[in-house]
Amino acid sequence: MANDLLKGKRGIISGALDKNSIAWKVAQKAHEQGATFVLTNAPIAMRMGEINALAEETNSKIIPADATSIEDLTNLFTEAQEILGGKIDFVLHAIGMSVNIRKNIAYEESNYDYFAKGIDVSAMSLHKMLAVAKKMDAISEWGSVVALTYMAAQRTYPFYTDMADIKAMLESIARSFGYHYGMDKKVRINTVSQSPTKTTAGTGIKGFGDFYDFADEIAPLGNASAEDCANYCVTLFSDLTRMVTMQNLFHDGGYSSTGVSDKIMNRLGEE
Ligand SMILES: NC(=O)c1ccc[n+]([C@@H]2O[C@H](COP(=O)([O-])OP(=O)(O)OC[C@H]3O[C@@H](n4cnc5c(N)ncnc54)[C@H](O)[C@@H]3O)[C@@H](O)[C@H]2O)c1
Repeated sequence: MANDLLKGKRGIISGALDKNSIAWKVAQKAHEQGATFVLTNAPIAMRMGEINALAEETNSKIIPADATSIEDLTNLFTEAQEILGGKIDFVLHAIGMSVNIRKNIAYEESNYDYFAKGIDVSAMSLHKMLAVAKKMDAISEWGSVVALTYMAAQRTYPFYTDMADIKAMLESIARSFGYHYGMDKKVRINTVSQSPTKTTAGTGIKGFGDFYDFADEIAPLGNASAEDCANYCVTLFSDLTRMVTMQNLFHDGGYSSTGVSDKIMNRLGEE
Protein backbone atom coordinates (compact mmCIF):
# COMPACT_ATOMS: atom_id res chain seq x y z
CA MET A 1 0.00 0.00 0.00
CA ALA A 2 2.08 2.92 -1.23
CA ASN A 3 0.73 6.42 -0.62
CA ASP A 4 4.01 8.28 -1.01
CA LEU A 5 3.53 9.80 2.45
CA LEU A 6 7.30 10.24 2.74
CA LYS A 7 8.11 10.97 -0.87
CA GLY A 8 11.18 13.22 -1.12
CA LYS A 9 12.07 12.78 2.55
CA ARG A 10 15.54 11.74 3.72
CA GLY A 11 16.02 9.80 6.91
CA ILE A 12 18.29 8.00 9.35
CA ILE A 13 17.00 4.72 10.80
CA SER A 14 18.89 3.20 13.74
CA GLY A 15 18.36 -0.12 15.51
CA ALA A 16 17.59 -2.66 12.75
CA LEU A 17 19.30 -5.80 14.05
CA ASP A 18 17.25 -8.54 12.40
CA LYS A 19 13.88 -8.95 10.74
CA ASN A 20 12.10 -8.90 14.12
CA SER A 21 13.45 -5.45 15.01
CA ILE A 22 10.89 -2.67 15.11
CA ALA A 23 13.38 -0.54 13.13
CA TRP A 24 13.50 -3.20 10.40
CA LYS A 25 9.76 -2.77 9.83
CA VAL A 26 10.07 1.02 9.98
CA ALA A 27 12.67 0.85 7.20
CA GLN A 28 10.40 -1.33 5.06
CA LYS A 29 7.39 0.94 5.61
CA ALA A 30 9.36 4.16 5.04
CA HIS A 31 10.71 2.69 1.81
CA GLU A 32 7.18 1.71 0.78
CA GLN A 33 6.10 5.33 1.38
CA GLY A 34 8.78 6.79 -0.88
CA ALA A 35 11.49 7.83 1.62
CA THR A 36 15.22 7.48 1.06
CA PHE A 37 17.34 6.83 4.13
CA VAL A 38 20.52 5.38 5.58
CA LEU A 39 20.56 2.54 8.10
CA THR A 40 22.80 2.65 11.14
CA ASN A 41 23.69 0.34 14.01
CA ALA A 42 26.54 -0.31 16.42
CA PRO A 43 29.48 -1.85 14.54
CA ILE A 44 29.34 -4.90 16.82
CA ALA A 45 25.67 -5.50 15.99
CA MET A 46 26.51 -5.83 12.31
CA ARG A 47 28.71 -8.87 12.72
CA MET A 48 25.89 -11.18 11.70
CA GLY A 49 25.44 -9.11 8.56
CA GLU A 50 21.66 -9.45 8.55
CA ILE A 51 21.26 -5.72 7.99
CA ASN A 52 22.76 -6.11 4.48
CA ALA A 53 19.56 -7.81 3.30
CA LEU A 54 17.49 -4.86 4.55
CA ALA A 55 19.85 -2.38 2.89
CA GLU A 56 19.48 -4.22 -0.39
CA GLU A 57 15.69 -4.46 -0.09
CA THR A 58 15.30 -0.75 0.68
CA ASN A 59 18.10 0.43 -1.59
CA SER A 60 19.90 2.11 1.30
CA LYS A 61 23.45 2.47 2.55
CA ILE A 62 24.66 1.41 5.99
CA ILE A 63 26.70 3.73 8.21
CA PRO A 64 28.06 1.99 11.33
CA ALA A 65 27.85 4.18 14.45
CA ASP A 66 27.99 3.50 18.15
CA ALA A 67 25.24 5.81 19.40
CA THR A 68 27.27 6.64 22.52
CA SER A 69 30.14 8.09 20.46
CA ILE A 70 29.99 11.76 19.46
CA GLU A 71 32.63 11.05 16.82
CA ASP A 72 30.58 8.24 15.27
CA LEU A 73 27.40 10.33 15.38
CA THR A 74 29.13 13.29 13.74
CA ASN A 75 30.31 10.97 10.98
CA LEU A 76 26.79 9.51 10.71
CA PHE A 77 25.12 12.88 10.11
CA THR A 78 27.91 14.03 7.77
CA GLU A 79 27.85 10.90 5.61
CA ALA A 80 24.06 10.61 5.66
CA GLN A 81 23.70 14.12 4.22
CA GLU A 82 26.32 13.39 1.58
CA ILE A 83 24.71 10.10 0.55
CA LEU A 84 21.13 11.39 0.60
CA GLY A 85 21.96 14.76 -0.94
CA GLY A 86 20.66 17.18 1.67
CA LYS A 87 19.43 17.74 5.20
CA ILE A 88 17.74 14.95 7.14
CA ASP A 89 13.93 15.02 7.45
CA PHE A 90 13.41 12.17 9.89
CA VAL A 91 15.36 10.15 12.44
CA LEU A 92 14.36 6.94 14.20
CA HIS A 93 16.02 6.22 17.54
CA ALA A 94 15.36 2.50 18.20
CA ILE A 95 18.21 1.74 20.57
CA GLY A 96 17.91 -0.06 23.88
CA MET A 97 20.21 -2.18 26.02
CA SER A 98 20.50 -2.86 29.75
CA VAL A 99 23.41 -4.94 31.02
CA ASN A 100 21.56 -5.39 34.33
CA ILE A 101 18.65 -7.02 32.44
CA ARG A 102 21.01 -9.07 30.29
CA LYS A 103 22.74 -10.40 33.39
CA ASN A 104 19.44 -10.95 35.19
CA ILE A 105 20.35 -8.64 38.08
CA ALA A 106 17.45 -7.60 40.36
CA TYR A 107 16.57 -3.89 40.42
CA GLU A 108 17.58 -3.35 44.06
CA GLU A 109 20.93 -4.94 43.34
CA SER A 110 21.64 -2.97 40.16
CA ASN A 111 25.30 -2.73 39.23
CA TYR A 112 25.93 1.01 38.79
CA ASP A 113 28.51 0.65 36.04
CA TYR A 114 25.95 -1.35 34.08
CA PHE A 115 23.25 1.17 35.01
CA ALA A 116 25.42 4.01 33.66
CA LYS A 117 26.09 2.03 30.48
CA GLY A 118 22.35 1.49 30.01
CA ILE A 119 21.70 5.22 30.43
CA ASP A 120 24.41 6.10 27.92
CA VAL A 121 23.27 3.61 25.27
CA SER A 122 19.51 3.87 25.66
CA ALA A 123 18.78 7.45 26.73
CA MET A 124 21.77 9.77 26.54
CA SER A 125 22.34 8.55 22.98
CA LEU A 126 19.17 10.43 21.99
CA HIS A 127 20.57 13.61 23.54
CA LYS A 128 23.89 13.03 21.77
CA MET A 129 22.22 12.43 18.41
CA LEU A 130 20.16 15.60 18.74
CA ALA A 131 23.07 17.69 20.02
CA VAL A 132 25.28 16.60 17.12
CA ALA A 133 22.50 17.19 14.57
CA LYS A 134 21.64 20.62 15.98
CA LYS A 135 25.26 21.75 16.08
CA MET A 136 25.67 20.69 12.44
CA ASP A 137 22.23 22.04 11.51
CA ALA A 138 21.68 18.64 9.88
CA ILE A 139 17.90 18.29 10.34
CA SER A 140 15.58 20.29 8.10
CA GLU A 141 12.83 22.58 9.44
CA TRP A 142 9.73 20.57 10.41
CA GLY A 143 11.93 17.47 10.53
CA SER A 144 10.72 14.72 12.85
CA VAL A 145 12.61 12.60 15.37
CA VAL A 146 10.96 9.55 16.98
CA ALA A 147 12.41 7.46 19.81
CA LEU A 148 10.87 4.19 20.99
CA THR A 149 9.97 3.75 24.65
CA TYR A 150 7.93 1.61 27.02
CA MET A 151 5.23 2.34 29.60
CA ALA A 152 7.44 1.19 32.48
CA ALA A 153 8.53 4.85 32.47
CA GLN A 154 5.12 5.71 34.01
CA ARG A 155 4.14 2.54 35.90
CA THR A 156 6.23 -0.08 37.60
CA TYR A 157 6.87 -3.36 35.87
CA PRO A 158 9.30 -5.15 38.21
CA PHE A 159 11.02 -7.18 35.48
CA TYR A 160 11.92 -4.03 33.52
CA THR A 161 14.42 -3.06 36.29
CA ASP A 162 16.75 -0.15 35.43
CA MET A 163 15.31 0.26 31.93
CA ALA A 164 12.21 1.81 33.55
CA ASP A 165 14.29 4.70 34.89
CA ILE A 166 16.26 4.90 31.65
CA LYS A 167 13.09 5.13 29.54
CA ALA A 168 11.79 7.89 31.86
CA MET A 169 14.98 9.79 31.08
CA LEU A 170 14.62 9.11 27.35
CA GLU A 171 11.08 10.53 27.38
CA SER A 172 12.25 13.57 29.33
CA ILE A 173 15.07 14.22 26.86
CA ALA A 174 12.52 14.11 24.01
CA ARG A 175 10.48 16.81 25.80
CA SER A 176 13.42 18.99 26.82
CA PHE A 177 15.23 18.84 23.48
CA GLY A 178 11.89 19.11 21.72
CA TYR A 179 11.48 22.54 23.30
CA HIS A 180 14.90 23.84 22.25
CA TYR A 181 15.00 22.28 18.77
CA GLY A 182 11.39 23.31 18.15
CA MET A 183 12.01 26.92 19.17
CA ASP A 184 15.19 27.25 17.15
CA LYS A 185 14.58 25.11 14.06
CA LYS A 186 10.98 23.82 14.16
CA VAL A 187 12.28 20.27 14.57
CA ARG A 188 9.83 18.02 16.39
CA ILE A 189 10.69 15.21 18.78
CA ASN A 190 8.35 12.55 20.14
CA THR A 191 8.53 9.17 21.85
CA VAL A 192 6.32 6.25 20.87
CA SER A 193 5.45 3.97 23.78
CA GLN A 194 5.06 0.58 22.16
CA SER A 195 3.35 -2.66 23.28
CA PRO A 196 5.55 -5.61 24.25
CA THR A 197 6.99 -6.86 20.96
CA LYS A 198 8.83 -10.10 20.21
CA THR A 199 12.27 -8.76 19.30
CA THR A 200 15.80 -9.49 20.56
CA ALA A 201 15.62 -6.63 23.09
CA GLY A 202 12.05 -7.55 24.14
CA THR A 203 12.43 -11.27 24.60
CA GLY A 204 15.67 -10.73 26.54
CA ILE A 205 13.55 -9.57 29.47
CA LYS A 206 12.77 -12.24 32.08
CA GLY A 207 9.12 -13.34 31.96
CA PHE A 208 8.54 -11.54 28.66
CA GLY A 209 6.38 -14.34 27.17
CA ASP A 210 3.85 -14.37 30.03
CA PHE A 211 3.73 -10.62 30.16
CA TYR A 212 3.25 -10.40 26.40
CA ASP A 213 0.13 -12.61 26.75
CA PHE A 214 -1.12 -10.64 29.76
CA ALA A 215 -0.86 -7.31 27.91
CA ASP A 216 -2.54 -8.86 24.88
CA GLU A 217 -5.51 -9.88 27.00
CA ILE A 218 -5.86 -6.46 28.66
CA ALA A 219 -5.61 -4.29 25.55
CA PRO A 220 -9.01 -3.97 23.82
CA LEU A 221 -7.26 -4.11 20.43
CA GLY A 222 -4.59 -6.57 21.56
CA ASN A 223 -0.85 -5.88 21.47
CA ALA A 224 0.34 -3.61 18.68
CA SER A 225 2.74 -5.43 16.36
CA ALA A 226 6.11 -4.14 15.17
CA GLU A 227 4.53 -3.57 11.77
CA ASP A 228 1.75 -1.46 13.31
CA CYS A 229 4.40 0.50 15.20
CA ALA A 230 6.25 1.09 11.94
CA ASN A 231 3.10 2.46 10.31
CA TYR A 232 2.60 4.82 13.25
CA CYS A 233 6.20 6.03 13.03
CA VAL A 234 5.70 6.74 9.32
CA THR A 235 2.74 9.01 10.13
CA LEU A 236 4.91 10.83 12.66
CA PHE A 237 7.64 11.34 10.06
CA SER A 238 5.07 12.67 7.61
CA ASP A 239 3.78 16.24 7.26
CA LEU A 240 0.32 15.10 8.37
CA THR A 241 1.48 15.32 12.01
CA ARG A 242 3.57 18.47 11.72
CA MET A 243 2.23 20.13 14.88
CA VAL A 244 2.87 17.12 17.13
CA THR A 245 5.97 17.48 19.27
CA MET A 246 7.31 16.83 22.81
CA GLN A 247 4.75 14.05 23.29
CA ASN A 248 4.94 10.55 24.65
CA LEU A 249 2.46 8.73 22.41
CA PHE A 250 1.06 5.38 23.49
CA HIS A 251 0.87 2.83 20.74
CA ASP A 252 -0.48 -0.16 22.61
CA GLY A 253 -3.99 -1.14 21.48
CA GLY A 254 -5.51 0.78 24.43
CA TYR A 255 -3.54 -1.10 27.10
CA SER A 256 -2.38 2.01 28.95
CA SER A 257 -5.97 3.24 29.46
CA THR A 258 -7.42 -0.09 30.56
CA GLY A 259 -7.51 -1.13 34.23
CA VAL A 260 -8.58 -4.72 33.71
CA SER A 261 -10.37 -6.69 31.02
CA ASP A 262 -13.23 -9.20 31.19
CA LYS A 263 -10.86 -11.83 29.80
CA ILE A 264 -8.54 -11.47 32.78
CA MET A 265 -11.45 -11.25 35.28
CA ASN A 266 -13.04 -14.41 33.89
CA ARG A 267 -9.73 -16.25 34.10
CA LEU A 268 -9.26 -15.20 37.73
CA GLY A 269 -12.85 -16.32 38.47
CA GLU A 270 -12.06 -19.80 37.16
CA GLU A 271 -9.18 -20.30 39.58
N1 LIG B 1 10.44 -5.11 22.09
C1 LIG B 1 9.65 -4.51 22.95
O1 LIG B 1 8.86 -5.14 23.67
C2 LIG B 1 9.70 -3.00 23.06
C3 LIG B 1 8.60 -2.32 23.63
C4 LIG B 1 8.68 -0.93 23.75
C5 LIG B 1 9.82 -0.25 23.30
N2 LIG B 1 10.86 -0.96 22.73
C6 LIG B 1 12.05 -0.22 22.29
O2 LIG B 1 12.20 -0.32 20.89
C7 LIG B 1 13.56 -0.04 20.57
C8 LIG B 1 14.06 -1.04 19.56
O3 LIG B 1 14.17 -2.32 20.16
P1 LIG B 1 13.59 -3.67 19.52
O4 LIG B 1 12.56 -4.19 20.45
O5 LIG B 1 13.25 -3.48 18.09
O6 LIG B 1 14.84 -4.68 19.72
P2 LIG B 1 16.20 -4.92 18.88
O7 LIG B 1 17.03 -5.75 19.80
O8 LIG B 1 15.87 -5.48 17.56
O9 LIG B 1 16.82 -3.46 18.72
C9 LIG B 1 17.65 -2.83 19.67
C10 LIG B 1 18.77 -2.19 18.87
O10 LIG B 1 19.64 -1.36 19.66
C11 LIG B 1 20.91 -1.44 19.02
N3 LIG B 1 21.99 -0.93 19.87
C12 LIG B 1 22.39 -1.42 21.09
N4 LIG B 1 23.46 -0.73 21.52
C13 LIG B 1 23.74 0.22 20.59
C14 LIG B 1 24.72 1.24 20.47
N5 LIG B 1 25.65 1.43 21.42
N6 LIG B 1 24.72 2.02 19.36
C15 LIG B 1 23.80 1.85 18.38
N7 LIG B 1 22.83 0.89 18.44
C16 LIG B 1 22.81 0.09 19.53
C17 LIG B 1 21.04 -2.94 18.77
O11 LIG B 1 22.11 -3.27 17.92
C18 LIG B 1 19.68 -3.24 18.19
O12 LIG B 1 19.66 -3.07 16.79
C19 LIG B 1 14.33 -0.03 21.91
O13 LIG B 1 14.51 1.30 22.34
C20 LIG B 1 13.37 -0.75 22.82
O14 LIG B 1 13.57 -0.43 24.18
C21 LIG B 1 10.80 -2.32 22.59
